[in-house]
Amino acid sequence: MTADDEQQAVDAATRHTPVLLERCVELLAPALDAPGAVLVDATLGMGGHTEGVLRALPHARVVGLDRDPQALALAGRRLEPFGDRFTGVHAVYDEMPDVLRRLGLTSVQGVLMDLGVSSLQLDETSRGFSYSQDAPLDMRMDPTTGITAADVLNTYDEKAIARVLRVYGEERFAGRIAREVVRRRADAPLTRTGELVDVLRAAIPAAGRKTGGNPAKRTFQALRIEVNGELEVLERALPAAVECLAVGGRIVVEAYHSLEDRLVKRALAVGATSSAPPGLPVEPETHQPYLRLLTRGAEEADDTERERNPRSQSVRLRAAERLRPTPHHLRATTAPRRSA
Ligand SMILES: C[S@@+](CC[C@H](N)C(=O)[O-])C[C@H]1O[C@@H](n2cnc3c(N)ncnc32)[C@H](O)[C@@H]1O
Repeated sequence: MTADDEQQAVDAATRHTPVLLERCVELLAPALDAPGAVLVDATLGMGGHTEGVLRALPHARVVGLDRDPQALALAGRRLEPFGDRFTGVHAVYDEMPDVLRRLGLTSVQGVLMDLGVSSLQLDETSRGFSYSQDAPLDMRMDPTTGITAADVLNTYDEKAIARVLRVYGEERFAGRIAREVVRRRADAPLTRTGELVDVLRAAIPAAGRKTGGNPAKRTFQALRIEVNGELEVLERALPAAVECLAVGGRIVVEAYHSLEDRLVKRALAVGATSSAPPGLPVEPETHQPYLRLLTRGAEEADDTERERNPRSQSVRLRAAERLRPTPHHLRATTAPRRSA
């Protein structure tokens, strides 16, 4: 490693504090405690969780996925000391089955998903994720592909913009904001986050700005979800990830807003619930649950962590263990689809 590389690895370690790290390691440990055990860290980010696992669980190898090439490069440098115990792959996490197939793996013992954006992405002004700095309206986690936030704001019709803000941002002034966007772009396309913040200032009545934190947060979250297709990808990825788990394997998912958490809760509940028709005297084995929930409801960070790491304030952690293969009659509905 050159001095520059070393500095970048140190930066990666300090730029994002992994949320509920010890709890994640504790939940994954029983599944990763034998030689040959493989964890897929589906959201590698700065590699904080992966490093925690590699340090604490000497048998574990990690395949780390990220759709952000910059995160992958930084985490790769940070994890170099672990040699071939770590493999980084540039991929969207719903491609997990294909990635594993390419690596010659038929199943894995653990999957970790720490959803959303990393502190690196939020801090990197030029990526346009943050409403507190003026930057191009981009918001793509993978800047090499796909539509930008500017494309959404300048090409969607008013109704579609309002829907994005209402559904993904739970923004009650979605209609007014969409109208203001369309009015402004008739003069010139919106290109900067600062212009969007101006639009929000004009569209949200003063009384509506007093509650619920910075009002720009909801619109920025909504655009980010739309630009990256976050919920569609997650909905496909969760059953696909469960299908990648060997019997005894464990999945841990950390969600940061209710839309994500609802999908996680539902996907794990499908596997943890009997599929037998009601009224059968004996539950056939093929209908027994194939997952066991490891968390009661969703776990949250304690006060100490919330204070130390503001990112942890909204975390909802859920985990499950695979008990048996997914019965055939349920596999068709959980089969992964490839991402666009
Ligand atoms: C919250 S950060 C993960 C931080 C990491 N656990 C750590 O401790 O450093 C989420 C990461 O997941 C990536 N990501 C989000 N959605 C993704 C997707 N659909 N496919 C692949 N990577 C994704 C983001 O680019 C980001 O780097």
